[in-house]
Amino acid sequence: MTLRARILIVILIVQTALIAALAAGSLDRLRRDIATETRMGAETARSLVLATIGTMQGAVPPDRIMALLPERLTQPRHARITILDVLDGRARPPAGPPATAAPVPGWFTALVAPAPQEIRLPVVVAGRPRGLVLIAGDPGQEIARAWRDMRDLMALALAAALVQAGLIAAALAQALRPVGTIAVRLSDMARGVLEPAIGPLPQPDLAPLAAHADALARTLAQARDERRRLQAQIVARADAERQAIARDLHDEMGPCLFGLRVEADALRHSPDPATVQAAAQIAAIADQIARVNRALLDDLRPMAVGQLPLATVLGDYVDDLNRRFPDTRFELDVAAGLPEPDESTALTLFRILQEGTTNALRHAGADHVAIRLWTDPAQWRMILTDDGGGMAADRPEGTGLTGMRERITLLGGTLTVGPACRTTGRGTRLEAALPRPPQMPPEPDPAGPGPDKDWTTP
Ligand SMILES: Nc1ncnc2c1ncn2[C@@H]1O[C@H](COP(=O)(O)OP(=O)(O)OP(=O)(O)O)[C@@H](O)[C@H]1O
Ligand SMILES: [Mg+2]
Repeated sequence: MTLRARILIVILIVQTALIAALAAGSLDRLRRDIATETRMGAETARSLVLATIGTMQGAVPPDRIMALLPERLTQPRHARITILDVLDGRARPPAGPPATAAPVPGWFTALVAPAPQEIRLPVVVAGRPRGLVLIAGDPGQEIARAWRDMRDLMALALAAALVQAGLIAAALAQALRPVGTIAVRLSDMARGVLEPAIGPLPQPDLAPLAAHADALARTLAQARDERRRLQAQIVARADAERQAIARDLHDEMGPCLFGLRVEADALRHSPDPATVQAAAQIAAIADQIARVNRALLDDLRPMAVGQLPLATVLGDYVDDLNRRFPDTRFELDVAAGLPEPDESTALTLFRILQEGTTNALRHAGADHVAIRLWTDPAQWRMILTDDGGGMAADRPEGTGLTGMRERITLLGGTLTVGPACRTTGRGTRLEAALPRPPQMPPEPDPAGPGPDKDWTTP
């Protein structure tokens, strides 16, 4: 249950109890008032009857007194008079319309009605009983008035309670509105959205909460930036290490292979045909080692990345694919005027292109592979789509996609793999986003500064 609902329920309970106490107190007072009024009404009626009979004695023949009494009397307030004439044995009310009272719910009457009271007045004139006057208390009108007052009072109290509850609900909603803002910010933080801050709140109760939420967001942002920085460092270090290995391979293997080839060439002039044949074999093995070495160098660090503009490197790679695989059309669309990314990002984009196109050739049986590269204000974006058979749904990712995803994640980016066509499920679409500008701290080259290498095959 919300805090607002709880507070309102408590307030409504208190108000209901107050109204109930007010009603109980009023009922008690009303009960006493009605009883007093009714008793007095009956007493007044008794006096009236006695006075009327008194004035009739001597003025009216005694045996006519009871017959004429109804005409001389009127029905008083809060009492009902009934006149019994012994001569004809009839019971008559006083002349005139009987007093009527507005209808009242039975339960209310039961709550406030006084005990019934009746006064019996035997009429004896000239020593003979002439009849009987019955006077009964009639609280009907008093009860109707009390019911009207009570109803008005309760309606007023209820209206006041509702207005009060409404005002409190509105005030609570206003006061608690920042709680909603804080909740939205916390849920944003849980999703990784750390800006903007809530800022200072005018509500003194909630201001510390907002301040702490903002402090938490700042701490998370610092941790996120630090994590990104470390991840970028990891990628940069790994790249630097691969670069160093490539350099060593190039620098160490090149002269060795060169020496091997020179020695083999020298042996080719030997008069011994077996030696000449062995020299040719050594030269062939040296060529094979050189090819493997070049492939290794390319894999460790594609030679052009970082040396040539990225668009050129990607374009050359795609041209080479189109030449080597004429049955598949590779189409590269690089947005005009792209900035040059840092080397880690450039290498990652190259690897995505490499892995995506290799997968399309190896697994998709695609006729057409489209690659788009562009930037938005925050990211480098690359999408590769092929029109092949698509990835099997239960197919686990292999080393290629996993390695690429790891590298992209380390750089703070995302990789999405799915079907190119959602309805048919055919084709494959790789979508990569890398943050821009990447937060790459300048990394010292473990091999120290040196002249740019030309990664050609030794
Ligand atoms: N373009 C594609 N079309 C169809 N299936 C694909 C495509 N790309 C990947 N796959 C499927 O996803 C699997 C995982 O791909 P991934 O590149 O991770 O590994 P791999 O290509 O099998 O091996 P490697 O480690 O050499 O890259 C593949 O084996 C293949 O079944
Ligand atoms: Mg692969």
